[in-house]
Amino acid sequence: MCGIVGYLGFQDPKKIIIDGLKKLEYRGYDSAGIAILNDGKTKRVRAAGKIINLEEKLINENFNGHIGIGHTRWATHGAPNEKNAHPHQVGAISLVHNGIIENYLEIKKDLIARGAEIKSDTDSELVAHLVNEEIQVTNNLLLAVQKTLGKLIGAFSIVVMWEKSPNELVAFKDGPPLIVGVGEKENFIVSDVQAALQYTKNFVYLEDREIVHIHNNDLKYYSALGAPLKKQITTVDWNTEQVEKMGFKHYMLKEIYEQPRAVAAAIRPHINTELHSVQMESLGFAKSNSETFKTIDRIMFVACGTSFYAAMLGKYLIEQASGLPVEIDVASEFRYRKPIIPKNTLLITISQSGETADTLAAIRLAKEKGALTLSITNVQRSSIDREAHGHLYMNSGVEIGVASTKAFTSTIALLNVLALQIAKDRGAMTPEQEKNYVVQLLATPSQIEGVLAYDKYFSEAAKKLQTFKGFLYLGRGVSYPIALEGALKLKELAYMHAEGYAAGEMKHGPLALIDASMAIVVVAPTDDLIEKTISNLQEAKARGGKIISIGTGDNKALQSMSEYYLSIPASSWMAHPLISVVPLQLMSYHLADSLGYDVDQPRNLAKSVTVE
Ligand code: AGP
Repeated sequence: MCGIVGYLGFQDPKKIIIDGLKKLEYRGYDSAGIAILNDGKTKRVRAAGKIINLEEKLINENFNGHIGIGHTRWATHGAPNEKNAHPHQVGAISLVHNGIIENYLEIKKDLIARGAEIKSDTDSELVAHLVNEEIQVTNNLLLAVQKTLGKLIGAFSIVVMWEKSPNELVAFKDGPPLIVGVGEKENFIVSDVQAALQYTKNFVYLEDREIVHIHNNDLKYYSALGAPLKKQITTVDWNTEQVEKMGFKHYMLKEIYEQPRAVAAAIRPHINTELHSVQMESLGFAKSNSETFKTIDRIMFVACGTSFYAAMLGKYLIEQASGLPVEIDVASEFRYRKPIIPKNTLLITISQSGETADTLAAIRLAKEKGALTLSITNVQRSSIDREAHGHLYMNSGVEIGVASTKAFTSTIALLNVLALQIAKDRGAMTPEQEKNYVVQLLATPSQIEGVLAYDKYFSEAAKKLQTFKGFLYLGRGVSYPIALEGALKLKELAYMHAEGYAAGEMKHGPLALIDASMAIVVVAPTDDLIEKTISNLQEAKARGGKIISIGTGDNKALQSMSEYYLSIPASSWMAHPLISVVPLQLMSYHLADSLGYDVDQPRNLAKSVTVE
């Protein structure tokens, strides 16, 4: 949450910082601000709301200079207004902050006792006060920041600029990401490489409790205690085209359409397409993949939100394919329930961003307790990826829409491969079965394209769907996590009440909600559970509920009871969720768009949740 851009170089800092902040707006859009230093004076402009509001304020503002910092905020402490927007300025110090200062109340009390005038409700401003106090003593920005760090408790990253020294920036990371972009005679400090990718492909990832001191063209790295560090430059090969909309109305729609390619890219490194067999690339464990999979006794998945629903699917896939027991946990619960992690457990985290604070804390806890860990991430070299013993990559390309789509389907594709590989290594699957599953998995990209062809159908139906008071999403087996994901997409995009349920649970409570204003969205492929699902739907229909169904083939029974029936291609039970989630994504997208909502940046949310 919150996006940071710092710049020191020869170009116009205003342009670079604003362009960078736009790329980071997915991290928060409650307010934005910029501070640029010129001729010994800091000029600061801030605005509540999105970056566009800041840009409007900047139209008539001229900035000179070559150094500045900017911020886009996801509010934690203090309302999302201009007063609380970053950068915060105290004396000659300007500061941007991402994260939470846990001991802020104590710091505030002490600062007030020392006569400080506090202007905002944020924890961030307090850090600027502390640096300002220290700099009066040290007259040295690096030292002032180092001394301040010892007074702060929490998970946070900061970038600090000092009016009296126009050629230096000091940044510190402990928790939320901060990455140094290394250019030619210019340097950047950003929350995500996307913010500087158009200027450089060379980046240095700060680890927790590390400082970077940018002084003219010189970059020096230190531990929080001041010990010099050597850091490696990583070259990132994402191109900037991947972060443009490419003619689509929204990033989310573009990302939905990218799914055939994203799914293919996720599985490509792990499948032998000639033999139709799984051959997972080395995951990076000390032992080979197959030795690892033979010796583990259980898998535990930990994740949040959409990634958690992918983990739920992982349980169905791995347990049924290989017989290996699988547990799943929401990351925010995992570490506080004092989890028991038996010997020979493989703990798998799923995270698109690789930065979700609860998931990161979970993997650290699991390591402390001796578990072997595997991360499934989209963003390579993200905090979670760096923490894990083994690594699997979604390869989805940059996902900008706050609502996750292609990262979800890429993950399900990877979980298919993982389940098949584990089953194969543990002798739970015949070569014929393996071949059959792989053939069906390889067909899913073109089957998803087939579903995307129904896009017009959803955009036309969207207006009619607006009239429903609420939505119940139902599914059984592997379609149950898909129902949960469908309901989440509708909630976060269209702000409508939606719940996901296992179809068999209806009669245990939710049936009481059903009347003619309630839509029941059911994912019901023709499998061995279809008859049971149809019975559940009869119960809902008898009470006036209106049914929207996603089925396979020409399922007459399902069709006759539905207001809307969409037939999608059939596949193996393992791969089918990859296809069945797509209509639910399109439905939520078009419904939200028809209501005029901001699809890419739904209210109150952020793409990367780096606070607990
Ligand atoms: C998805 O649409 C959500 N915006 C959200 O639930 C997301 O999946 C969750 O915050 C986890 O993010 P991660 O995959 O980056 O860890």
